Amino acid sequence: MTFDEETLLAAEASELERAAEAALRPRRLAEFVGQPVVRDQLSLVLEAAVARHRPPDHVLLAGPPGLGKTTLAMIVASEVGASLRLTSGPAIGHAGDLAAILSGLQENDVLFIDEIHRLARPAEEMLYLAMEDFRVDVVVGKGAGATSIPLALPPFTVVGATTRAGLLPAPLRDRFGFTGHMDFYSTEDLERVLTRSARLLGIELEPTAGHVIASRSRGTPRIANRLLRRVQDWAQVRGNGRADVASAEAALRVFEVDPRGLDRLDRSVLRALCLRFGGGPVGLTSVAMAVGEEPETVETVAEPFLLREGFIARTPRGRVATRAAWEHLGLTPPSGETAVLFD
Ligand SMILES: Nc1ncnc2c1ncn2[C@@H]1O[C@H](COP(=O)(O)OP(=O)(O)OP(=O)(O)O)[C@@H](O)[C@H]1O
Ligand SMILES: [Mg+2]
Repeated sequence: MTFDEETLLAAEASELERAAEAALRPRRLAEFVGQPVVRDQLSLVLEAAVARHRPPDHVLLAGPPGLGKTTLAMIVASEVGASLRLTSGPAIGHAGDLAAILSGLQENDVLFIDEIHRLARPAEEMLYLAMEDFRVDVVVGKGAGATSIPLALPPFTVVGATTRAGLLPAPLRDRFGFTGHMDFYSTEDLERVLTRSARLLGIELEPTAGHVIASRSRGTPRIANRLLRRVQDWAQVRGNGRADVASAEAALRVFEVDPRGLDRLDRSVLRALCLRFGGGPVGLTSVAMAVGEEPETVETVAEPFLLREGFIARTPRGRVATRAAWEHLGLTPPSGETAVLFD
């Protein structure tokens, strides 16, 4: 990647960052900030299961990266006092791998399958049989002599996480008793996430600085926590140790994160669209060439957030800059009306 900021504002996390994140994960539902709808639904499902002394129904958590799917999966296990087994779609190469995991499950275990949309087809079929009938067919032997022996499984709960719910085949999707759709967080909820993280990390975060960081975090707790660490760096090295508004703004200026949470690549794309192509419509390849990036980078890294925030629109004839894009850059839209300038 040519842009450092891509990693700073990317919703995905590296392995190293995932390890650091573990320390900031809320352990109980009551500690989990935001997502009021999913939290309420989940608390009902879990409380009912506990009252019935039964493992809860299978739970699917769907939504963009960094919003708390893995965190909630762990919370499911701790709320019902169950042990958690972790695996992921890509880690299960063959149906046999899944059979081994399933046959090792104990009663009431929670089996977390991350990136469940990436399970191979045979494993998928084995999984939905197991989810419905608590049974797995273990194949013994090879070739013509192979026989399949049905093995009964103890009751357990699957928690699946996916960033691409649409890719799950209907039969698998239907086996989940409850699907939680995770949404981007409001600035207020991200402020609460930051207050909690700052307390855990021993950072003196002023509420006004929390607001500045939250409003630039693209609705994503992972990004908020990451920006908090950069602000802490700035406060320690160049400031007075406190994460106040001045250090938050200075740190985010160093990393070129602007007041709306756009980074350098995002702004280059907007500038190319407005200044080189008169606001469009223009094809993806032309935009990518103008900013010196691969079309795929522009499409997958910059465009989703620009689209979500209404800075650009995709039309059959190509990308267009919206009025908000011109205004954000402090430019006058071509209609000739004076743009409102944002800070
Ligand atoms: N509601 C929340 N309250 C506090 N912290 C949160 C919340 N949601 C997420 N986080 C923090 O954000 C980070 C990322 O969360 P998590 O790993 O659960 O996201 P994810 O949805 O599983 O992402 P991915 O799709 O990349 O696997 C973690 O450090 C977690 O502690
Ligand atoms: Mg995850």
